[in-house]
Amino acid sequence: MKKQRLRLKAPDNWINDPNGFIYYKGYYHVFYQYFPYAPQWGTMHWGHAVSKNLVDWEHKGIALFPSKRADQNGCFSGSAVEKDGKLYLYYTGVRYEKINPDNVHTCLNEQFESAQMLISSEDGFTFDNCNGKEQIIPPITDPEIGDRTHTRDPKVWEGSDGWYMVLGSTIREKQGEVLIYKSTDLHQWIYQSKVTKDPGYGWMWECPDYFETKGGKVLLLSAMGLLKNGEREKNQAICFNAEFDEKTCDMQVEDSYHFLDYGMDLYAPQTTVDEAGRRTMIAWVRMPEVTKDGWIGMFCSPRVVEVEDGHICFRIHPNVRKEYEIPIGEIQEVKEDGYLAELDLEEGDTLDLGGLKIELRGNCLCTDRSSVYPNFEGAHLKSETPELKKGCHLEILVDEQLVEIFVNDGEYVISQAVYGLKKEITNNRNLPITLKIPK
Ligand code: FRU
Repeated sequence: MKKQRLRLKAPDNWINDPNGFIYYKGYYHVFYQYFPYAPQWGTMHWGHAVSKNLVDWEHKGIALFPSKRADQNGCFSGSAVEKDGKLYLYYTGVRYEKINPDNVHTCLNEQFESAQMLISSEDGFTFDNCNGKEQIIPPITDPEIGDRTHTRDPKVWEGSDGWYMVLGSTIREKQGEVLIYKSTDLHQWIYQSKVTKDPGYGWMWECPDYFETKGGKVLLLSAMGLLKNGEREKNQAICFNAEFDEKTCDMQVEDSYHFLDYGMDLYAPQTTVDEAGRRTMIAWVRMPEVTKDGWIGMFCSPRVVEVEDGHICFRIHPNVRKEYEIPIGEIQEVKEDGYLAELDLEEGDTLDLGGLKIELRGNCLCTDRSSVYPNFEGAHLKSETPELKKGCHLEILVDEQLVEIFVNDGEYVISQAVYGLKKEITNNRNLPITLKIPK
């Protein structure tokens, strides 16, 4: 099956969120939201890709497909855990109450219900879609707990005395919330508590992920309707410092947050622990247009999440950085797997990277992709990080469709989907730039 290096992209047609990201029996598994029939969102399947090193990926085709009443219209996002050598996949089964007659892969007026489902596998490669599925949380009927329609994306982890799950939901379609469930056997789940903020934090929280990592504890979530200013991508992934008490199941989440990535293209991040114990994240990069090869949707390169003095950082994963080991003198030597550029900027410095403009202005890193991105209404063309603490060291991963700018080893990241990027770099004052290509 199709192989890919460094960046995991749709094998064909459409992909969105990464799902079930786990290191299991010697392989990294990434499943993903996949519509296998056309380059557009539709009835969700779980596609599957594996890698031994987070760099060389092989697509494995479809792992999960609708087969039960509860998931007849889609296997939505979810996560994976391992117990006693078995892989457990949790996901959301969706059943439409009104099918859109003009496109049976979508539903009419948001009339659907969602249940939480489980399927297990002995090896991570075979899934019994017909006999192996179990409904573990039926559609929620108590509005005091959650929403019957918009409750989804179970993320499960092992605590010291059992298994915990965060689940995205909404209070009356006005205010996002995360539901917390607990289980001692992976099958029976009991609702424990919830955490929410005011409606300013979005009307629905998708894809929650809570974890402990070096330096702190973090809640990631994808907030729908977070941006109010007519931007095309109103939904944004954000991160908070958080605390979770296993005894009481109480989750405390700071009021302040920052964006997962200041390019505003990333969404639905998911983390797992890598082979060496690092908390590693991947996320969907939203793309506005089908590529010339007929696919749409890709993932950012794996990032290590760490907290430094209370600040959540997203660093290049060492396995990825290690690949870029061949120094080159000229940008013309770059091949189709792209390059890594490394340099320092001072206030007022500018860089033009094949059409993507980069500048350090007011101690914030700013980008403008107007000339390498389709320009439609609400397109997010200009990006800007918050003020940097100290210095501006850039490591920039570039390939044909994606530029990822890591500032100060992941203090902030700006990742941008690009179209028609040129093989050129120019800057204002002959800045020394180190260029490397993958081996
Ligand atoms: C996030 C999301 C999830 C859902 C999935 C459906 O992008 O909306 O909440 O499970 O995509 O494809």
